[in-house]
Amino acid sequence: FGAERCNSVAINIDIESQWQPYNAAVTAFSEYQWQAGPLPQFHLMSDVTAEIMTVTAPYDRREVVGKVIFANEEHVEMAITQAADAFANWSTSSASVRCSYLLQLADKLALHQHELVALCHREAGKTIQDSIDEIREAVDFCRYYAQQAILNFESPQQITTYDDIEQQLRYQGRGVFVCISPWNFPLAIFIGQISAALAAGNTVVAKPAEQTSLIAYRAIELLLETGLPQGVIHLLPGRGAQIGSQLLSDERIAGVVFTGSTPTAQTINRMLAARECAPVPLIAETGGQNAMIVDSTALPEQVVRDVIRSAFASAGQRCSALRVLFVQADIADRVIELIKGAMAELSVGCPQYHSTDVGPVIDAVAREKLLTHIETLTHQATLIAQTPLAAECQFGDFVPPTAIEINNLDLLQQEHFGPILHVVRFKSCELHQVIDQINQTGFGLTMAIHSRNECTYFDIEQRAQVGNCYINRDQVGAAVGVQPFGGQGLSGTGPKAGGPHYLYRFTQECVQPTYH
Ligand code: SER
Repeated sequence: FGAERCNSVAINIDIESQWQPYNAAVTAFSEYQWQAGPLPQFHLMSDVTAEIMTVTAPYDRREVVGKVIFANEEHVEMAITQAADAFANWSTSSASVRCSYLLQLADKLALHQHELVALCHREAGKTIQDSIDEIREAVDFCRYYAQQAILNFESPQQITTYDDIEQQLRYQGRGVFVCISPWNFPLAIFIGQISAALAAGNTVVAKPAEQTSLIAYRAIELLLETGLPQGVIHLLPGRGAQIGSQLLSDERIAGVVFTGSTPTAQTINRMLAARECAPVPLIAETGGQNAMIVDSTALPEQVVRDVIRSAFASAGQRCSALRVLFVQADIADRVIELIKGAMAELSVGCPQYHSTDVGPVIDAVAREKLLTHIETLTHQATLIAQTPLAAECQFGDFVPPTAIEINNLDLLQQEHFGPILHVVRFKSCELHQVIDQINQTGFGLTMAIHSRNECTYFDIEQRAQVGNCYINRDQVGAAVGVQPFGGQGLSGTGPKAGGPHYLYRFTQECVQPTYH
């Protein structure tokens, strides 16, 4: 016991000392204001009359973080034209040449990690730990996709046919890929999409979420510093409603990768389908009605630790986050009691403090939607617990972590993207009905199972139609390269980010004779 205590003290000291420099960076950058605009055109923009958005911190709207100049129609046209012109040279350069820029970008992201943590924290309102994880994931995406592209695309695969004529199978870029990324992973997913598209031989026009344009801009500045050939990458900060239709209706677009809400993915799909030209792939990773199923053999303390992290970490703003906890009636009271206790200990407040567990949500629109959902449910269901907000929260967009018991999924017609946990009790004989209910939502992103019965979790795993299933652990934080991530049905078109087959979806195959 003594040794365990010593170890845990050592671990805490280590975490604290690792975290300190990032906290110092956040303080050092607390007055700094960043700027963003269309890249690479930004420096030529003095004559352009464009919409300018002032960015404020989600945890304190009095704090100005920077300014964003939104792209207009001219920028969209220029970006697509230049990206289309740059495609031939880029796609015919070798995978290792293309990936050398991504490997340099990974080094630059690591070198500038303190500034990027500060920016991520101030623009997206992330806790410092979440911001550190975000930078690390972005670096992992660059290195992983570079490694995969060199492994699979550097040389063509040789195929010997029945008549001994040798042929080769080559993977080529498709053309101009549009990358539309979300605000909840403003660096990791933004960089993940772009690095995949570039590594596979495409040129890129990137449209980041308007809430997090500053960090996207900073990342593209670093990418351009690597000496990436002209025209290969373009950044178009802007509102989807303003530039989205021009971007997606353009016949020169060869593919779209999108992460965000299901309704937006459906809109993009319709826009692409309406074009009177060659159909192009849409790679979409969207939302979920993610469940955790807990049977009576599970260990309640372990369940609650994983429920709290899955539902409330990152203020519930992960597409993988737990939305509905199904708990077997025999242990439901015990689990709910422990959830209440754990929620009473959560600290909600400014994400700069090491002690903060739950920071703000992204903006006032998200906050209002979530509060309305809580208000509606409290009339129809039973409130289990709600963590109070600290006084400082009055200046930002905070939503109190809330757990509510409901009878079934009928009250949840859509995803509620924030720190709200719904709890449903079930009897052991109803396990298959529970799985059917989850499948019938049409979503299929993550699921966690807590059970010490091998047959139970094997059975659930086989029946559940989800992309990522976790056993006896939390269900967030898939790691690049070892936990490929992506959903099915309403949760996405399937390709798994950070997995060995992802890059193929950005390519086209071409068979040619081999010349010796
Ligand atoms: N990949 C993230 C996670 O697993 C969600 O986008 O939490």
